[in-house]
Amino acid sequence: MGVKLGILGLGTVGTGTVQLLQDSAGRHPLLQEIEIYRVGVRSLDKPRAVELSTEVLTTDLEAIVNDPAVHIIVEVMGGLEPTRSLILKALSNGKHVVTANKAAIARFGAEIFTTANQAGVYVMLEAAVGGGIPVIQPLRQSLSVNRIHTVTGIVNGTTNYILTRMQTEGSNFNDVLADAQRLGYAEADPTADVDGLDAADKIAILASLGFGGRINLQDVYTEGIRQVSKTDIAYAEKLGFVIKLLAIAKRDTPSSPLSVRVHPTLVPQAHPLASINGVYNAILVEGEPIGQVMFFGPGAGAGATASAVTSDILNLVAVLKTNTAVANPLLTCGHQEYCQIAPMAELITRFYARFLTNDQPGVIGKLGTCFGNYGVSLESIVQTGFQGELAEIVVVTHDVPEGNFRQALAEIQNLSAIESIPSLLRVL
Ligand code: NAP
Ligand code: HSE
Repeated sequence: MGVKLGILGLGTVGTGTVQLLQDSAGRHPLLQEIEIYRVGVRSLDKPRAVELSTEVLTTDLEAIVNDPAVHIIVEVMGGLEPTRSLILKALSNGKHVVTANKAAIARFGAEIFTTANQAGVYVMLEAAVGGGIPVIQPLRQSLSVNRIHTVTGIVNGTTNYILTRMQTEGSNFNDVLADAQRLGYAEADPTADVDGLDAADKIAILASLGFGGRINLQDVYTEGIRQVSKTDIAYAEKLGFVIKLLAIAKRDTPSSPLSVRVHPTLVPQAHPLASINGVYNAILVEGEPIGQVMFFGPGAGAGATASAVTSDILNLVAVLKTNTAVANPLLTCGHQEYCQIAPMAELITRFYARFLTNDQPGVIGKLGTCFGNYGVSLESIVQTGFQGELAEIVVVTHDVPEGNFRQALAEIQNLSAIESIPSLLRVL
């Protein structure tokens, strides 16, 4: 039996996927049983990097998801609508779906998976997080017998590229962003990447798989990298850290609420994620009894993402060939409940803060007193230099509830000697 694909989208990922499918020699033999039956695009006039016959290429995406001959829909068009409606229609029509669309899954996952379960079909999303890195299937299957404590990822290549260049060149965020856009690493509208929204979508998906519950995207605390300065990167380095945009999902015990967050973080130089540079992604999973497992590789790009998309297609071809009426519980989404997410005030973490103060006696003492008033214990406090007339003081705390730290900061802000608090970052 030939398995017929309806591919929605022929951009970076769609083209990579078609190229991989059209060049099957030396790859898994099941690929030869796949037929690229229809490919939906917006414009028929655009030049394409792949050859497809005129009856394959169409602008009628509705017709593809409604075509009874199509077995699998491969959604690589991106965006929220009409994508959501097309996915839901395909599932209701009894078609399996492969998607690379983290934004759609993070927002509409509940209705998408409910529809899939009702229709007895699967939604596969390996490419949605970490591009070519296999992490969805490992969380769903290979690691699922573990009690997961933490999933910590560098899951956005654009921001990792920018932070790496700021670190190695001592450059400003805006200069590196402009250069990254010129080189095609950052999009013309970089908002989703640099403001942490893309990473939030991805950690919501990973948390849902790792901790077995739905995640409300609004509960994911999200802070991007626009405020990270070269000054802080330099201080962090002196203190033995690098700054990374981390996406973190953590649960201390099976009954405690989850913490799910995205923010720039000081990472100790010896930590496995500290050496992940450039556009690469990595996801560190910690669980019991496995300990630590880290997945590393290309988080984006045509070939890498096509590898993930096509492996999902292959899994579905195998499902179709075995032709069983019983759903495979390792491929379905079994959870219906939403995870309880802890408020950020309850997060226990270390902080790095930089203060600009008047250069007068007793300032460090006053800072220490304010922190002490709220039970914030300091790991280090150093006057690092001057900016003009103002002294620069950098503080690293021990683990502290974020709420206590914020209360201490509010008091510190009212001290007459404090000019400003230019940076506040969490420390891993
Ligand atoms: P892209 O290059 O912009 O391609 C989008 C494709 O979808 C184009 O072929 C476009 O048609 C088609 N399309 C979009 N909206 C359409 C509509 N309303 N009707 C018909 N066709 C439509 O996007 P991409 O980079 O391949 O990304 C696709 C998805 O993969 C996104 O969800 C993205 O987040 C995800 N993803 C991408 C990467 C990556 O490295 N690029 C990595 C991981 C995940 P035309 O060609 O006619 O304009
Ligand atoms: N914009 C994303 C990134 C692409 O920079 O990682 C992959 O999802």
